[in-house]
Parts: sequence; C-alpha cells; structure tokens
Amino acid sequence: MSEQVNTEKKKMLLSGIQPTGVFTLGNYIGAIRNWGQMQEDYDCAYFIADLHSLTVRQEASELKKRIKEAYALLLACGIDPEKSIVFIQSHVPTHAELGWILQCYTQFGELSRMTQFKDKSAQHPENVNAGLFAYPALMAADILLYQPDFVPVGVDQKQHIELTRTIVNRINGIYGDVFKMPEPYIGKSGAKIMSLQSPDKKMSKSDENPNGYVTILDEPNVIMNKFKRAVTDSETEVVFREGKDGINNLMTIYSVLTNKSLEEVQKEFEGKGYGDFKKAVGECVVDALTPIRENYARLIKDNAYLEECYKKGAEQATRISYRTLAKVKKKVGLLPPA
Ligand code: TRP
Repeated sequence: MSEQVNTEKKKMLLSGIQPTGVFTLGNYIGAIRNWGQMQEDYDCAYFIADLHSLTVRQEASELKKRIKEAYALLLACGIDPEKSIVFIQSHVPTHAELGWILQCYTQFGELSRMTQFKDKSAQHPENVNAGLFAYPALMAADILLYQPDFVPVGVDQKQHIELTRTIVNRINGIYGDVFKMPEPYIGKSGAKIMSLQSPDKKMSKSDENPNGYVTILDEPNVIMNKFKRAVTDSETEVVFREGKDGINNLMTIYSVLTNKSLEEVQKEFEGKGYGDFKKAVGECVVDALTPIRENYARLIKDNAYLEECYKKGAEQATRISYRTLAKVKKKVGLLPPA
C-alpha cells in the first residue's frame, strides 16, 4: 500500500470506525488495540466512517466535533500516521462515488436481510432513510477501493463483509478481475468485552448504568471505582468457567492487557479473594489507559498537527482509491472524461 516499490509485499488491511464519541475499553481491547499492533505486520489504512454516521440524525456542530475527536483518539491509541494511512471518509470523494456504483449491484432483498438495518430501523422508526438501507454498499466501497486482504471487524460487522464478498463475486463474474476478495478478520479472545454491571451484555456507552462501561479517557479513580463495583458471583474462586460471566470478563481484560494466559491469571490469584483481583484488574486498566489519556490531552489541543495528519491521510487515500474507481468505471462501461 505504500507508494514506494514494496519489496516485502506486506498484506494490506483496512478498517473503519464511526465517530460515536469516546471509545470504550471494549472498543479498545476488541478492535483498536489490535489495529495498532497490526501496523507492524501489515500495510494498514484506518478511517473515521463519518458518512456512515449520517444514516442516523446528528446535531451538525456536535458531529463535526466528534469526528475530530475520534480521529485524535485513534492517534492517541497508537495508530501512527507515519506507518498507516489514517483518514476521514468524507475527505475522500471516491467512497461516495463507488458507493453509488455498488448500490446498483446490490439487491433490495440482500439489503433487507441485514440485521443491523433491521435493528436500527426498529430503533429509529421515524427515520428509516435510504442511506440506512444502502449503508452496506457504502461499506463495501470503503473496503474494495483499497483492495485489502483483510478487514478486521467485530462479529456484528461480519454480515456486511459477507455481502461485500457477494458483490465482489457478482462484479468479477460479469466484468472479470475487478476486485480482490477481502477476508474478514475477527479477533480471537478478548474480542468481546462485556458490561461490568450486566456481564451477559456487551460493554456499551448506551448502557444506562455508567458503571457498566469504562471509556478510554476515564480518570484512574473512576476506573478503580468501576472495577471495585463490577458484578461477579457468589463464589470466591478466580477461574474461567461457564456461568461465571463477570469473573470471565474480568479475567479476559486482565489476560489481554497483561499478556498472561487465563491459566496464569488463575494461578496468580489462587487463594486470593475477588477484592484483590478486581483491584489488580483496575490497576492494569489504569496502566494501559494512562498513556492514551495523556496522548489525547496533548493531541486534541494541537489542531495544526491533527489537520496536517488528516490532510496527508486524505491525499494518500485519494491517490490509491482513485485507481480502483477509475478501473471500475471503465469496466462497467462509463465513458472516460476527455
Ligand atoms: N460499519 C462499521 C461499524 O459500524 C464501520 C465501517 C464503515 C467499516 N466502513 C467500514 C468497518 C469498512 C470496516 C471496513 O462498525
């Protein structure tokens, strides 16, 4: 993906995240932390999916602020604009353009079966707009413009990747080799962090109980308090076992952030109570998030640097994606401009 001749031929990956506000510990462990680590082994492109946010009604000044904050959060989490292409979707006009073309190769029936569409249209019955319906075609364009090998996403996005693959088969079937077939890359353990208060539900900012989630900008004392209050069970043993959702979740968090296996974690806390364990989990979360919070505080004040980064990202992304778009337009029979 780099513009120089790439002798190593690294595999390419791409992913995006919507600017819905400060990321939770769940977003961080399940996705963004892995994105950072993958920069070493892959050529990566990461973007803020702001066009996707318009499928739900937004307050304009609030959205604009959140887009910039989301971009700064990615950098604060270690996404490095020197290593990866880091951009804002609406700054790269090829996305909307290929999105339109792909809509014309996506069936009404296919879009109707998307569970995210069904859920969101049930949540917002007053605003079931065409963008919400066609969203997966835009997401397919986001991906296919860069011809990535892998797309790291959470399980909830897997159906959209499957549809992207269907579109690739359809278009390549008609026009020959247009797109590379992307593979979903679903993270392994730690992919799904649960609510600290209702450990049978995914950790989410929409939890009505703020003690259920930790955001990556929470202060240390807030984090420690949330872990102290985390729901566990009436037993005493720190073991990963069916039926111990709360403890399993805390063990997962601790294991991912300390790079220890679940067995090692179990050994470490043998004979100790839940109180000690929760304190240790809280501390390792504070240790992991402190540098992020500090990076963010510095970045969000440095508007010139952020602008420089997203300008460069948009230029890199435009250059690469433009090639794919030009190829697609030619293949489907549009007359090239003179
Ligand atoms: N739909 C994704 C989400 O809501 C965000 C997204 C948009 C995305 N385009 C993408 C993710 C392309 C991966 C690749 O989480």
